[in-house]
Amino acid sequence: MNPAWIIQTADFLAAFLFIYGLKRMSSPVTARSGIHVAGYGMLLATLAGFLYVFGISPAAAPHLTMNLGLAVGALLVGVAWAWRGGKTVPLTAMPQMVALYNGMGGGAAGAIAAVELLGGKADNAIHLTVTLVGAVIGSVSFSGSLIAWAKLDGRINKPWRIRGQVVLNSIVLLAALAVGLAVAVGVAGVPTHVLIGLFFGIALLYGVMLTMPIGGADMPVVISLYNALTGLAVGLDGFVLGNAALMIAGMVVGSAGTLLTLLMARAMNRSVSNVLFSHFGDVSLESTGEIKGRMKPVEASDAAVTMRYAGKVIIVPGYGLAAAQAQQKLYEFVKTLQAAGVEVKFAIHPVAGRMPGHMDVLLAEAGVPYDLIFELEDVNDEFSGTDVALVIGANDVVNPAARTDKTSPIYGMPILNVDQAHQVYVIKRGQGKGYAGVENELFFADNTNMVYGDAREVLVKMIQAVKELGEGSESAA
Ligand code: TAP
Repeated sequence: MNPAWIIQTADFLAAFLFIYGLKRMSSPVTARSGIHVAGYGMLLATLAGFLYVFGISPAAAPHLTMNLGLAVGALLVGVAWAWRGGKTVPLTAMPQMVALYNGMGGGAAGAIAAVELLGGKADNAIHLTVTLVGAVIGSVSFSGSLIAWAKLDGRINKPWRIRGQVVLNSIVLLAALAVGLAVAVGVAGVPTHVLIGLFFGIALLYGVMLTMPIGGADMPVVISLYNALTGLAVGLDGFVLGNAALMIAGMVVGSAGTLLTLLMARAMNRSVSNVLFSHFGDVSLESTGEIKGRMKPVEASDAAVTMRYAGKVIIVPGYGLAAAQAQQKLYEFVKTLQAAGVEVKFAIHPVAGRMPGHMDVLLAEAGVPYDLIFELEDVNDEFSGTDVALVIGANDVVNPAARTDKTSPIYGMPILNVDQAHQVYVIKRGQGKGYAGVENELFFADNTNMVYGDAREVLVKMIQAVKELGEGSESAA
């Protein structure tokens, strides 16, 4: 049986499902089904991969049965691990998980390139060049993503920095490329497998050295960049293996990852090279500037009553909402306000939380209608005409220093103009700083009051206060 046409049809279908799934992921309404569609594509492409064995003669592959067993075993382990991870990971730990999966993709691409090189299968200049480029990119993405995972997971807490780091890193990259060239042309007296080992070793080292100095708010951008690189490496491997599904999947991931990286950097008003080489997104560089004034606490019930009698309230969710898992309670509170005739909107900053779309996912999970949710540029002009801005567990994304303080690490980042509302309430547990590690003058402003406590507990009290008010007015009537 010649299964070539079945493989090609399956690859074509898989590529269609990847692209269609990605298209559906571009809206929160269809995103969930988009994930499923792309997943079916992945399943189809994986199963089609097994059909290749029918085209291999037993003489050409004496260990075919054992290799098949290994492949199925690896698949089972991978599926079990990913299934468990996907089911149990909290939303706030998603960036770590993405970093780990990126790393696995980059590692797989590097491993395929290694097999090609060690087996001497890359037998013409184009084939060899593509394999080597894929090997470097995959290896950098693998080791860099693992470092990013360790940093986000709190396993590496200190950034590693030395003088002249950018120059040193460039030398290491050049060394990797030079050894790659040596692999291609050969060096008299040095066995090829030694050169290949050295080549991979230096490429892996480069990934570590590139990522170690980066920290703080820049990590999610770096992960997205590695995602793009992994896609590129996989696409190049697809070319080397002549596998259309791998090629298309890699290019789709590569281009989507590149766009995401650029969007995230733009939302923080940074360039990607600035993220990679300036190393300022770290808490150790926090601004130490003193802010005049004092924070004024109020009771949750008092803040809730003010909102109950307001005409318009804009809610700004941030990382703390996710950490407290308070999204259901928040929507319950919003419904009590709406029932009292208050106009309520949600304002979402593009980098609120810890990953792109974090807040949208949370609000969707709680059933908040999409027409209540507004992006920064669509809502920012409305704050000055708003009675109350309620900030829940957000900090950096509402810090006016981004507009005014040139010494602040977040200077230039577009922020939500919460400070322009008539009254601002901020729910947070205490004096904790945001991800960028800087103080927030919003909390000290005359029109701001702090509602201290865990977001969920505060919202429970707010719901209670508004309900009691309703019951009180009913019984008075
Ligand atoms: P943050 O600036 O990190 O502030 C979160 C605040 O939530 C903290 O000040 C903390 O104060 C409070 N908090 C924590 N747990 C809480 C709880 N259980 N209940 C109530 N409050 C709680 O968050 P943000 O404003 O969403 O900003 C996101 C940050 O991530 C930015 O620096 C952004 O640049 C960075 N970042 C995000 C992305 C994406 S794509 N999302 C990408 C790159 C960088 P207390 O400790 O006092 O409670």
